[in-house]
Amino acid sequence: MALADITIPDIGDFDEVTVIELLVKPGDTIQAEQSLLTVESDKASMEIPSSQAGVVKELKVKLGDKVKQGTVVLVIETGGAAAAPAPVPAPASESKQAAAPAAPAQAATKSVAAPAAAGGSVDIRVPDIGDFKDVVVIEVLVKVGDTVKAEQSLVTVESDKASMEIPSSQAGVVKELKVKLADKINVGDVLLVLEAAAGTPAQAAAPAPAPAPAAAATPATASVPAAAPAAAPAAALPAHEPAAPTGQLPHASPSVRKFARELGVPLAEVKGSGPKGRITQDDVQAFTKSVMAGDVRTQAQAAKAPAAASGGGGAGLDLLPWPKVDFTKFGPVERKDLPRIKKISGANLLRNYVMIPHVTNHDDADITDLEAFRVSTNKDNEKSGLKVTMLAFLIKASVAALKKFPEFNSSLDGDQLVYKQYYNIGFAADTPNGLMVPVLKDADKKGIMQISQEMGELAKKARDGKLTPAEMQGASFTISSLGGIGGRYFTPLINAPEVAILGVSKSQMEPVWDGKAFQPRLMLPLSLAWDHRVIDGAGAARFNAYLGSILADFRRVLL
Ligand code: COA
Repeated sequence: MALADITIPDIGDFDEVTVIELLVKPGDTIQAEQSLLTVESDKASMEIPSSQAGVVKELKVKLGDKVKQGTVVLVIETGGAAAAPAPVPAPASESKQAAAPAAPAQAATKSVAAPAAAGGSVDIRVPDIGDFKDVVVIEVLVKVGDTVKAEQSLVTVESDKASMEIPSSQAGVVKELKVKLADKINVGDVLLVLEAAAGTPAQAAAPAPAPAPAAAATPATASVPAAAPAAAPAAALPAHEPAAPTGQLPHASPSVRKFARELGVPLAEVKGSGPKGRITQDDVQAFTKSVMAGDVRTQAQAAKAPAAASGGGGAGLDLLPWPKVDFTKFGPVERKDLPRIKKISGANLLRNYVMIPHVTNHDDADITDLEAFRVSTNKDNEKSGLKVTMLAFLIKASVAALKKFPEFNSSLDGDQLVYKQYYNIGFAADTPNGLMVPVLKDADKKGIMQISQEMGELAKKARDGKLTPAEMQGASFTISSLGGIGGRYFTPLINAPEVAILGVSKSQMEPVWDGKAFQPRLMLPLSLAWDHRVIDGAGAARFNAYLGSILADFRRVLL
């Protein structure tokens, strides 16, 4: 065992930054590259990762402290006697192992001014932002016609470790915006065209070189897979429409920004409870709850439905803070990061759980004859190697029920229902990386054998982590089958913006009264969860009954 100091690595030109979040505490086991704290300057916030693994012995900084390159932030106990020496802060370019955060914002202020020009159009480009590639535009802070000053922030960009504002290298009037929200940008890309104020120095075409920050952070722009029956973020309707940009970046760390974006929370409207009004994750959660309880309305909601204001109300949830327990007091523990898919799906699941008034109807379907047919079909097809499972029949039967009860195949969009005339069925697949929801497209146009084959291929791709975003998007209804595993009924979470999901459990032989005697029948438990804003209990009971009648006699699909 050896002790090692963890210091602030090279953070570019920043002299002093303020500690705004402590992400670890004494006793925590940390991994190399794990974020330890969030610091911020007036232009950027960034997470500082650890340069090595170990157990936190002592925190050397507290909230509000000013730190700079070389400041010791904590002491860790490393694994062995031959532990690596404490990291010497060094430019990242010198050592790939030196963990260093993103420190790009400063670079923006380094744009070289060209000799004076008498007005005219100038391209304002992304200056050197270090090793960052494909950072995402998360806020556009100016619009066409705005007069901007030199050094005024134009856009906010974000990687998964840092958010930063890119300032203008000169003053003028915005003539044309060349980027929009969600664009990925790199050094040298044109952000906007400025009608330069006469007599102000014109910007050099190429961005100025800036100290190379380290590359510990990776861009958070990889395509986001749909995960869990609540994901498919690309297809999801925003929870709230974003308010018009205020021109001032809300005060929040990158992780909180990301969390807010995933929930569709307009950060500009959230009141921060942290130091200097900084918005914390709890603030974002509390805001979501308040909106759901009708206590608070977003600006976009207020603008859309002013008349509804008086009718709102709602008690407000007035939640207690999340319990903070030192588990080590009760026994040994081990900490592990949530897998990436769980992190992504978690925010979606929370949104769907909180925002959709779920109700679940349970029912049973008699699949005795269908199972016999399935078994004999598989016997006949033994040589082909293609196996039909109950899920393929469930997909086909669900399509028939969706056609009969079209609101189950719809999405809520404000005061309108969008009825889909396509039948794309998502199915939850349990994979080593977590839950994925591949989508079987145009299930209404396919037979059982084709559905089985495509489902098998999609499930394999899901298990191998090879699903493309397109293969996880566009579902109009989802089925979550635990039938191959076990259990009796459960409440699946609706995969927004869908309005219903069918949960299926393991079938079993049960005595069923036929009016004269008990008969052994194979019964399949069905659990239909539905959005009470769109569907009501009677409709759900009819859907289940109809689905059950088809599964009991599949010839009804033809009617
Ligand atoms: N009742 C009884 N047995 C069932 C059944 C049911 N409802 N559904 C499937 N089975 C049987 C199958 O017939 C098969 O039996 P066999 O091996 O004797 O032929 C076995 O269970 C395994 O089936 P499985 O390979 O799981 O196929 P599937 O088509 O039913 O399901 C997936 C495919 C991809 C959906 C499934 O593998 C999976 O990942 N399920 C988990 C979904 C999940 O985690 N949902 C929870 C979301 S919160």
